[in-house]
Amino acid sequence: MKHLFTAMSLPAEERKPAAVGKLVTMFRPDHKFERGEGESELVVENLNVHIKQQHILKEISLTIPDKKITCIIGPSGCGKSTLLKTFNRLIDSVEGVRVSGRVLLNGEDIVGSGGAEIINLRRKMGLISQKPCPLPMSIFDNVAYGCRVHGIRNRRKLRMIVRHYLEAAGLWEEVKERLNTPAARLSIGQQQRLCLARSLAVEPHFILADEATSALDPISSKTIEELFIALKQHYSIVMVTHTLRQALRVADHVVFMYLGQVIEAGPADQVFNNPTNKLTQKYLSGIFS
Ligand SMILES: Nc1ncnc2c1ncn2[C@@H]1O[C@H](COP(=O)(O)OP(=O)(O)OP(=O)(O)O)[C@@H](O)[C@H]1O
Ligand SMILES: [Mg+2]
Repeated sequence: MKHLFTAMSLPAEERKPAAVGKLVTMFRPDHKFERGEGESELVVENLNVHIKQQHILKEISLTIPDKKITCIIGPSGCGKSTLLKTFNRLIDSVEGVRVSGRVLLNGEDIVGSGGAEIINLRRKMGLISQKPCPLPMSIFDNVAYGCRVHGIRNRRKLRMIVRHYLEAAGLWEEVKERLNTPAARLSIGQQQRLCLARSLAVEPHFILADEATSALDPISSKTIEELFIALKQHYSIVMVTHTLRQALRVADHVVFMYLGQVIEAGPADQVFNNPTNKLTQKYLSGIFS
């Protein structure tokens, strides 16, 4: 068997913890919404997702730890995106979907909730997708949007919020002179940081990132990685990535999926250096991808 893909496969400069900008390290959520005290834990119990006749997610049970970066890895089509969509109930919009089992956010089942609870749930579960999708409005309005939906109208307060979260996403200096221009005029990397600011502004408990850096240039991609490393002080981050190197650089916790099942999950060190399952070993060795 080929060598496993371990932390030692990375050049030294990649193994060092990423340096983060001063503004980001100083960042604190502004606590305008009730976040509750204590830990934000996501516990998945016997989750099954069917789409029409297809069994997409099979008996998934796992715990996503608080204030850590959890990387979900696995070959294309194994169900990574479906799992993230189940966490924020975007899965509901898929025709012919059936979901069973439980996903507990701080003890409350989010699979069975409905109506207004879903709006509140989506606030807690900020999803960032592969292709940045800013809303067709100005940079300012993109960040303010979620806060307005959740009842914040005061202009001065909104200005403070917008600045705070654009700083958190490392974008403020680049856009402060043109907040009222359309977001679509930003570069793709800037748009992705704007989407991150928009998600953060409503103070999610989790940031769900589905290949959030795969469409970006290397510098924008590194910026997002560094932001995630800094933001995990305050948020739990679940990152789907196709890049094992990226998972090695950022993951605290790893979930390996294959054909709709969780094959192995645990601390990154353990999964990367001592995977117990043969399939995980093969995947990390590059025998299949
Ligand atoms: N709306 C849908 N209708 C039918 N099947 C779907 C739908 N969405 C996903 N699937 C199927 O569910 C399975 C898992 O898809 P999913 O997008 O979750 O995989 P993934 O691990 O994210 O793959 P990739 O790495 O390519 O993004 C695939 O077989 C896919 O074809
Ligand atoms: Mg996917």
